[in-house]
This record gives sequence, C-alpha cells and structure tokens, in this order.
Amino acid sequence: MEGSLGFLFLAFLIIPLPNFFIFCTGHSHSQLRCIDTERHALLTFKQDLIDPFNRLSSWTAHGDCCHWLGVVCHNLTAHVHQLNLGSYYEPLMFGGKLNPSLLDLKHLNYFDLSFNNFSASPIPEFLGSMKSLTSLNLSYAGFVGLIPRQLGNLSNLLYLNLDHGYFPGDLYVNNLEWLSGLPLLQHLDMSSVNLSKASDWVQLTNTLPSLLDLRLQYCQLRFIPLVVDVHNMTSLRHLDLSRNYFNSSIPNWLYSFSRLEFLNLGSSNLQGTISSAIGNLTSAISIDLSGNELGGKLPVSFGNLSSLTNLDFSNNQFSGTLPQNLGQLKNLVELSFSQNSISGPIPMSLGNLSSLTYLDFSNNQFNGTLPQNFGQLSKLETLYIESNMLEGVVSEVHFSNLTSLIQLYAPGNKLTLEVSYNWNPPFQLGVLSLRSWNLGPNFPGWLCSQRQLQNLDISNTRISGVVPPSFWNLSSQFGFLNLSQNLLYGEIVNSLINLPSDSVIDLSSNHFNGSLPYVSSNTIVLDLSNNSFSGSISHFLCYKMNEPKQMQLLNLGKNHLSGKIPNCWMKWNNLELLNLGINNFTGNIPTSLGSLTLLRSLHLHKNKLSGKLPSSFQNCDNLMTIDVAENEFVGSIPSWIGHKCSNLMILSLRSNNFLGHVPEELCALTSLQIMDLSCNKLSGSIPRCVKNFSAMATKDTSNYPMRFNPSVGYYGESFPLESALLVIKGQILEYSTILQLVKSIDLSMNNLSGEIPIEVTTLQGLQSLNLSYNLLIGSIPENIGTMGSLESIDFSMNQLSGQIPSSMSSLTFLNHLNLSNNNLTGKIPFGTQLQSFNASNYIGNKLCGLPLSNKCTIDDVDPNNENKGSKHNGGLEVDWFFVSLALGFVVGFWGVCGPLLLNKQWRIMYFQFLDHMRYKLKSLVLL
Ligand SMILES: *[C@@H]1O[C@H](CO)[C@@H](O)[C@H](O)[C@H]1NC(C)=O
Ligand SMILES: *[C@@H]1O[C@H](CO)[C@@H](O)[C@H](O)[C@H]1NC(C)=O
Ligand SMILES: *[C@@H]1O[C@H](CO)[C@@H](O)[C@H](O)[C@H]1NC(C)=O
Ligand SMILES: *[C@@H]1O[C@H](CO)[C@@H](O)[C@H](O)[C@H]1NC(C)=O
Ligand SMILES: *[C@@H]1O[C@H](CO)[C@@H](O)[C@H](O)[C@H]1NC(C)=O
Ligand SMILES: *[C@@H]1O[C@H](CO)[C@@H](O)[C@H](O)[C@H]1NC(C)=O
Repeated sequence: MEGSLGFLFLAFLIIPLPNFFIFCTGHSHSQLRCIDTERHALLTFKQDLIDPFNRLSSWTAHGDCCHWLGVVCHNLTAHVHQLNLGSYYEPLMFGGKLNPSLLDLKHLNYFDLSFNNFSASPIPEFLGSMKSLTSLNLSYAGFVGLIPRQLGNLSNLLYLNLDHGYFPGDLYVNNLEWLSGLPLLQHLDMSSVNLSKASDWVQLTNTLPSLLDLRLQYCQLRFIPLVVDVHNMTSLRHLDLSRNYFNSSIPNWLYSFSRLEFLNLGSSNLQGTISSAIGNLTSAISIDLSGNELGGKLPVSFGNLSSLTNLDFSNNQFSGTLPQNLGQLKNLVELSFSQNSISGPIPMSLGNLSSLTYLDFSNNQFNGTLPQNFGQLSKLETLYIESNMLEGVVSEVHFSNLTSLIQLYAPGNKLTLEVSYNWNPPFQLGVLSLRSWNLGPNFPGWLCSQRQLQNLDISNTRISGVVPPSFWNLSSQFGFLNLSQNLLYGEIVNSLINLPSDSVIDLSSNHFNGSLPYVSSNTIVLDLSNNSFSGSISHFLCYKMNEPKQMQLLNLGKNHLSGKIPNCWMKWNNLELLNLGINNFTGNIPTSLGSLTLLRSLHLHKNKLSGKLPSSFQNCDNLMTIDVAENEFVGSIPSWIGHKCSNLMILSLRSNNFLGHVPEELCALTSLQIMDLSCNKLSGSIPRCVKNFSAMATKDTSNYPMRFNPSVGYYGESFPLESALLVIKGQILEYSTILQLVKSIDLSMNNLSGEIPIEVTTLQGLQSLNLSYNLLIGSIPENIGTMGSLESIDFSMNQLSGQIPSSMSSLTFLNHLNLSNNNLTGKIPFGTQLQSFNASNYIGNKLCGLPLSNKCTIDDVDPNNENKGSKHNGGLEVDWFFVSLALGFVVGFWGVCGPLLLNKQWRIMYFQFLDHMRYKLKSLVLL
C-alpha cells in the first residue's frame, strides 16, 4: 500500500493535475452549423498534426465542426470559440506542426494544447497574432527554444501557461519585457522555463496589475530583489517561486501580500530568518518554505495565520522551541517541521488541531513526552515523530480517539509504551515503526488486532519470549517486518511460508531456535543472522526447488547451522548478498553456488568448509567481496580470481590451508581495498606487481554504496551490504558500512621470503600493512615515509635488517607499529611519535635510543638520519592533532562517528542517505 501511495504521490509531483485532460466535445445549438472558413482552417490544421490514435476521426471534410472532438462553438454566432486539444496520456499525444491556418479562427478564446509532444520544436510566432485569445495553455507540450516575444501581442490574455514540465531541452526567454503587453493577465505559469536571463523578472511581473496567480517553479532564477516597489503584485493570491537558486533572504516585500493564499518558496536556496511580519499574510492557506537554509526561531506571529491549512517548514535549520500558539491554527490539515533543530516540548496546544490529518516532526530535538491530548486528533492519519529525544510513557490515552491513524512512524525515541495486555486500539495501522522504544518485556499482543499492517518495525524494543501464533497469522500481509535486536525465541518453522511478494523480513539478533523456517519463494530479503537456528539447511534451500527464488539478500550468518551446504542454488540466481558465515558448515562448496552470477558479496567465513575453491566460481564478475576466512580450504590460491573477479574489493582467505605462491594475477584486481591472506602456508616472495592495486594507491574512497536497498519493494530498510572481520592494529573488529574507507594488506603468518618490494610504497592509500611472522629479509624500504595513510605497520617476527628508515617518522597517522624480533640495527629515528610506542614494539633487534632504555653509542648514530628526522618536524602540532583523530577513528569504527569526522565525502553521502531515507520512509540500522 505504501508503495502505491508513494507512486501516486510522485505522479502528482511530476504531473500537475491534468485539468484539461478530459475532453469537451462540441456542445452547440443543433440548428447551428459551423462556419466554412473555420472548418477549412481546422481541416488544414489537422493535416499538419500527427495524431497516432486517430482521435480527430470526427474531423471530416463535410462534417459540422461544431460537433468535432475538442471544438466548441459559440452558441449564438457559431464561431469556433474553444479548441481543447490537451492529451496527457502518452499514446494519445498529438505531435507534428501547428499550421498557421489557425489564424482564421478569428473568435477563438480558449486554446489548450497541453500534454502533447511537439517534439522539441519552437513555439510558433504566429500564435502571437491570435488576438482573440483569452486563454492559452501550452504546458507540457514539448516546445523548446526561445519563447517568441510576439506572445506579448495577445493583449486580451487572462491565462497563459507555458509550464515546460519534465521535457528535455531548454524553453527559455531572453527577457520578459513582452509581458507588459498583457495587461489583463491574471494567471501566469512559466514553470520549468529557463528565466536565468530575466534578472528583472520581479519588476516585469509587477507591470501586470491584474495578476492573481504567478508560478515560476524551476525557472533557474538566481536573483530576487530585496527592495522594490511591488505594489501591483500585492493582489496576488498564488505565488510559486519554488526550486530556484536565490541565495538570499526572504525579501520583506513578500510579507505585504496580504491577499496571498498559496505561497511556495520551497527548495530555493533561501537563508536567514523569518520576519515576524509573516503575521501580515492573514489570507494564507498554504505556506511551503521547505528545503531551504532558513533558521532562527519561529515568530510567534504565526498564530495570526488562522486560515492556514498547510504549513511545510521541513528541511531547514529552524531552532528554538515551537510557539505555543500554533494550537490556534484550528484549520491546519497538514503540518511539517521535519529535519530542523527544533527543541523543547511538543506544544500541548497541538492537541486542539482537530482538522489535522498529517503531522511530521521527525528529525528534530523535541524532548519531553508526547502530549496526552494528541489522543483527541481524531482525523490524524499520519504521525511522524522519528528521531527526536522524546521520552516517558505513552499510554492508551494517547491513542484514545486516533481512529483515523494509518501511519505511525516514531523510531529513534526513548518512549515507553504501556498499554494493558488486552488493549484494543481504535486504529487499523498500515505502517508502524516503534524501533528503539521500550515495548517490553512481553510481545505486544495488541499487534495481532492490526489486520491492515504491512510495514512493521519493532526492532530493538526490549521484547522477549515466544512470538504468539496469532501474530504469525498476519504474516501474509507483511511486506516489511523487522523484529530484530530483541530477545525473542522459539521455533518458527512454518511461520514464513505465506509472505506477500517482495517481502523484506529481518528477524536477526534474537534467540530464535530450531530448524530454519520454510520461506516463500517471493521473499526478497531474509535476515535471520545472529540467532540460534541449528541443524541442516537442506529443507530451507531445496524447498520447492523448481520455483525461481526472488531472494536478493540472504543472511544466515552467526547461527548454529551445520552439515553440508546443499547443491540447491540453481534457482537462487537473484541473490546479491549471501552470508553463511560463523556457522558449523562442513564439506566442499557446492558447484551450483557458482550459478549465482549477480552475487556481489559472499561470506562463508568461520565454518569448517574444506576442499578447493570450485572453478564454477569463475562467474564472479559482480563479486565485490569474497570472505572465506577461518575454514579448512586447501590448494593454491586460484589465479583466475585476478581475471574473473575483476570488481573485487575485499578478498579474505585468512586462516585456511592455502599454499604455494601469491599468484601475480591477483595484481589485476584494481578495485581491491582489502587483501587478507594471513595465516596460510603461502611461500615465495611478495609480488612486485602490488603497485597495480590502484584502489590502494589512492586516498580516494570508492563511491560504491555500502548498504543494500532491495531493488524491488519499497519497505523502509536498507541493509549493510558488506561486513568483514579484519585484524587491524592487533584487534579483530567487524567492519560494516564503513568498509569502503578501509585499505589493508595482511600477509602475516605465512612462509613468505625475500625482501619487502619497494613497489609497496606506491600504495599511498594503504592504512594497514601486516607482514609479520614470515621469513622476510633485507631492509625496510627507505621511502616508506611516503605511504602517508598508514596507521598500522606490523613487520614483527621476520629477519629484516638495516636501520629503521628515518622517513618513517613522517607517518603522522601511524598509531600502531611493531618491528620487534628482526635484525634491525641503529638508532630509532628521534623527534616524533616513533618514541611514543611501547618499547616492546622494538625489542628483539639491535636498536638503541628512546623508547628503548639502552642509549646509543656514537657508532649507532647516523648523523644524516638525525637531520632528516628533524626536517619533518615542522608541523608537529598539526601532526598530533591528526594522530588523535586517527585514534578516534579506531573507536569510531564501532559507530559511525569516526568516519563522519574524517571523511567529508563519506559524510555527505551519509547525510544524503539519511535524506533519501526520509522520503522513502526508511529506517536505518546502524551496523
Ligand atoms: C450561451 O452560452 C452562454 C454562456 O456561455 C449562456 O449564458 C447562454 O444562456 C447560452 N445561450 C443559449 C441560447 O444557449
Ligand atoms: C503598476 O501597474 C500600472 C498599471 O498597469 C502601471 O502603470 C505601473 O507602472 C505599474 N507599477 C510598477 C511599479 O510597475
Ligand atoms: C505588517 O503589518 C503591519 C501592521 O499593519 C505594518 O505596520 C507593517 O508594515 C507590515 N509589514 C510588512 C512587511 O508589510
Ligand atoms: C529539553 O531540553 C532542554 C534543553 O534543550 C532542557 O532545558 C529541558 O529541561 C529539556 N526538557 C525535558 C523535559 O527533558
Ligand atoms: C473522542 O471523540 C468522541 C466523539 O468524537 C468525543 O465524544 C470524545 O470526547 C473524544 N474523547 C477524547 C478523549 O477526546
Ligand atoms: C560447532 O560445533 C561444535 C562441536 O559440535 C560446537 O562446540 C560449536 O559451538 C559449534 N559452533 C557453532 C557456531 O554452532
């Protein structure tokens, strides 16, 4: 339901109400026959028209044109008075050319050509000679190019609509001076016309003394004068200047439009505050200031605007508390303040807004509790209070008269719902999200009464116990169901058999146990991870084996599943993400897993899988992640990974029994950011071609979305696309949505020999390099100091010799270093944080100087080193600032804060993501 509502809403946004889409057939006096010259004119006009649906079949050579489709004659004179040729529906659209024969319709008042497709041709100049016109509608007609100034000759016009709509190509003006030839004009719509050259648009529209309705949406206007005599415009009733680029404050003259009923200044780059003079707009019915950068406190004078029905201030920077007297706006139907910084309590007085159907306060800092008298809002259909700081108890009284409520979207508050066990709510909800509320300890039984519920999120709500069977009886209506992060248990074997199509089900992080449930084939997302499901997955995977599976994301990770992974993947070819990690699976990888050609992410880590990686895997062109760490795989690392899995970003083969060389072919993986081959039996040298890992050579992060949005369905949640357990800085951490920020090579605990290739130092974006526990010889590359992103280096337990390169002291992000147990000699370069590491990170060498306790003798000291070292100390204060940032980064890996601080690009993406979520009514599950 939500999906289709959303679509309808979108359709209304894109296509203004098609007022003229209903055709009027000629209704004229039966005695009257149309005038010959006019019939000829119309027939000539028809010849140049493309009419793919043959809609003008009634326009025949000898017919009475007063009875033709779209033609209206005057009831006394029989002159053609109106031409209604608007279309709207694609297959019905007229095209072709406009024949000047129309000039013979000397009495035409009304000409409507809207919603057609005159395939990117200009508006013909001859229209300016149709002097009798009072109404001309060329909206959405596909004309492009310069609007002819001859339209300014239509001195009788009352109505002119040139809205260009969504058509590609520019419809534009060089100036608007011709407008002054239209003194009777009441309604002017030039939306989506490029008016960027008409910087004096206000002065020129102000020459129209009769203007009531002015619509200049999407006009690329870059200027709005702050001071100007706008006296002629003060009679405006409707003003739409939305979606322009004013980069200015709201001009004071706007507040003098005391007859204005509809004002839309949305998304027009307006700044500053709202003047208390807004209280002068006493006729206002609808005000939309959304999507600007307006701030400050809302003026109390708002309480004067008693005619208001719609007020949209969303997506601005308003702060302070809401004026109490908002409750005086008794006619309000829709009210939105979402995405601002409004704080303090939700005014009690809002409970008096008895006409309210839509209230959106989401993403603010409202605190205190929900006013009890909200329960009186008997017309309220939608209540969005997501992501505020509301707390306290919400009881049955809060809902006592909310009989119309359909959508209650309130995640991200600290509210506690206390209702009696057998509460019978007065509403039938379609959408309910109470994520992170306290609903516990028992499962909210009243949900079983909600027979329209399609979208339910009660994740992280402290509920425990067994889910009642009567709740699962509703499962055939759930398009989106999120019960994750609770303490629910019990078996659910047959509870998910009858899901509606495209359903998204998240039961992760509970204690559900027993066998995996059977799941209908049309489910697109199923997350059962982090539960206690056990036993084989054969029945689950091979259920209705001949039915194509719609599943795009399947996460069964972190359970107690065991046995072989069955060879039943043939019909699961929509899968993009598959996680079977952290279970007890044994045996080989089945060949049919290779048929998942859309797979982007494969996690099989921490099982007991064995054998070789099957060559059927070579259809891995879409794979970004292969994580098979901590299994018992054998054989050499397949060289085809380098050629066939060309989009690979993460390759983790850690802790298996792979042997042989690191294949040079891997270096073809130019997108690779994380390569973990540690804890295997690899031998030979580190390939010099590592310099080809171009993603690691840059500090840029990939823009690849790290969250997964189901490609069908429209249900409010995205999932972390990737996650990987990484050992960085000596700790195992689970990295998820910020994985794309991580660049790491781990070759530790193998039998690698030879020198560290100097080519490694070209990997300027690399943050972690772990080569410990190998047989490496030679010296540390002299210019390692150029790897400016390094935060962690572990070269311990090798046979490296020579001195520590002084350039290492310029690695300002470095906060983990282990060089212990090598054959390094000489003085530890002095003067930077190399001294801040614990001495244990240097022991087992022949080093001297701080932080080691043994002082250097003259022989140890290389004077050049000392000089080079101190050369890099110029920005010491700044360096330490970054070091502490980098430390924050480690901690932040568990949350999202660290990377938001560090990386602007990611921060922007994150907030765009949140933005996006708001529209799609999405909830965000962190990590
Ligand atoms: C002709 O139409 C006008 C309105 O356009 C109407 O007022 C008038 O009654 C009509 N006359 C006849 C004879 O139908
Ligand atoms: C207002 O309209 C009148 C009448 O058309 C015109 O003479 C006058 O110049 C207009 N005022 C401005 C400031 O444009
Ligand atoms: C608002 O109205 C008051 C009182 O009528 C008037 O003094 C003031 O100038 C008006 N402000 C604007 C901006 O029109
Ligand atoms: C709400 O927040 C304000 C500060 O923004 C604080 O002064 C006030 O005590 C808070 N009210 C409640 C009920 O928590
Ligand atoms: C609920 O609505 C009914 C009828 O509209 C009214 O009589 C009653 O007082 C209302 N109750 C509350 C608590 O607002
Ligand atoms: C795997 O099986 C072993 C032995 O049966 C058991 O000790 C271990 O807990 C199991 N692990 C998981 C993740 O179920």
